[in-house]
Amino acid sequence: MSTDSKTRVVTTYRLSEMKARGEKISMLTAYDYSMARILDSAGIDVILVGDSAANVMAGHTTTVPITLDQMIYHARSVTRAVNRALVVVDMPFGTYQGNSKKALASAIRIMKETEADAVKMEGGEEILDSVERILSAGIPIMGHLGLTPQSIHKYGTYTVRAKDEAEAQKLIRDAHLLEKAGCFGLVLEKIPAVLGTKVSSELKIPVIGIGAGGGTDGQVLVIHDMLGITQEFSPRFLRRYADLYNIMLDSVQRYVADVKSGDFPNESEQY
Ligand code: KIV
Repeated sequence: MSTDSKTRVVTTYRLSEMKARGEKISMLTAYDYSMARILDSAGIDVILVGDSAANVMAGHTTTVPITLDQMIYHARSVTRAVNRALVVVDMPFGTYQGNSKKALASAIRIMKETEADAVKMEGGEEILDSVERILSAGIPIMGHLGLTPQSIHKYGTYTVRAKDEAEAQKLIRDAHLLEKAGCFGLVLEKIPAVLGTKVSSELKIPVIGIGAGGGTDGQVLVIHDMLGITQEFSPRFLRRYADLYNIMLDSVQRYVADVKSGDFPNESEQY
């Protein structure tokens, strides 16, 4: 493992400047070297090594099973490819909830072993001790409120969050708590657009939405969803920019046919 830390072009400070001048922030997930290279070359501002790797890379139905070692493996593969974008790594379930010392140890492992720029954590007041301890070590944190997939077993559904007044008020309180603690940014997932706009306008730190409407300071999507590699997941907030599932399926089917027929390799494809 390399011990040289890269200073990437997009920093947490750059993101706050972007918010201040009203420039929208683009963010996508990546979990491996080849995909991260494409995203970085395309000029993405933030790459999230999301624990959605549990779903799209490993085939789990929730993000709960992914481990710290597995997140570190994905994050290392991504950071090797990235020169420009800020790289944020999800702290997986069980590595920070309810124990701030364990949380700090987990965050330190991510920062030392992956060369990432920051970590992301789900939750508000309940995880404030862990947030404060990690921040006190100089590790930048992005918060995550609204739909928090690591708590799926508590809520039992992936439906829109904070539709009722009490939950919306708690989300607003939590957003302010995270900002006050020193988080550099916040993800809001699957909440009403008016609430996304309100939180974004009240906070000074950048707010990145996924299913939180167009009034947030930026947008994030899971790369496999926006490229159409996954097919079964079709929430209203998802815009698909490609149909890679069918392009890849067709390519592999043609390869199989060419191998079977003896058409591949031809004269010019051999030594
Ligand atoms: O893990 C993930 O991909 C995320 C995004 C949905 C924000 O947390």
